[in-house]
Amino acid sequence: MKLYYAPASPFVRKCLVVAAELGLRDRIELVTAAAHPVNRDKNVVAHNPLGKIPTLITDDGSVLYDSRVICEYLNILGDGNLVPRAGEARWTVLSAQALADGVMDAAVLTRYETFARPEAFRWQDWITGQLEKVTSGLDALESRAADFGDRVNLGTIAFGCMLGYLDFRFASFGWRDGRPKASAWFEWFGARDSMVATRPA
Ligand code: BEZ
Repeated sequence: MKLYYAPASPFVRKCLVVAAELGLRDRIELVTAAAHPVNRDKNVVAHNPLGKIPTLITDDGSVLYDSRVICEYLNILGDGNLVPRAGEARWTVLSAQALADGVMDAAVLTRYETFARPEAFRWQDWITGQLEKVTSGLDALESRAADFGDRVNLGTIAFGCMLGYLDFRFASFGWRDGRPKASAWFEWFGARDSMVATRPA
């Protein structure tokens, strides 16, 4: 399999952590792609009209995106239980992933607004609105973190990648402040081999 990727993307990281947890990492060849909201990478566009990463080319040539689809695919390929097949547990895990992905979306959009958009066009209210989503998502995580125990599933993996991205790009945001449960949980989860191996430099 080939994965179009950028090491800084938390959505890519989620797929790589899933692959590592399932023992599939060695079957994935990484293809570096330019991740930019405006200048799309033509090599990715050739497979995915959105030009977004992660994009996975499977061994039979199928093209899969986005990260949610890729993670489901890997879970089935690896005969894993990172996404429960049915019942309440399935919706709990998928909703956790949706919350973490939403926070990652807001954080990445904030990063683009401050890094990619020309200074004259930046809109502070818009940045504030995105960061409010990050704050609400973190507060929701804090209220759930004590129940995570040692569970490793697509929901907890997504939360781990979300917190890792905040550490990487938003260190001064101080997400740990007032969130002891999420902090303690991430201390443990972030030390997993799958997380250490995918930490952006
Ligand atoms: C980043 O550099 O923060 C980034 C790169 C790719 C996708 C998302 C974010």
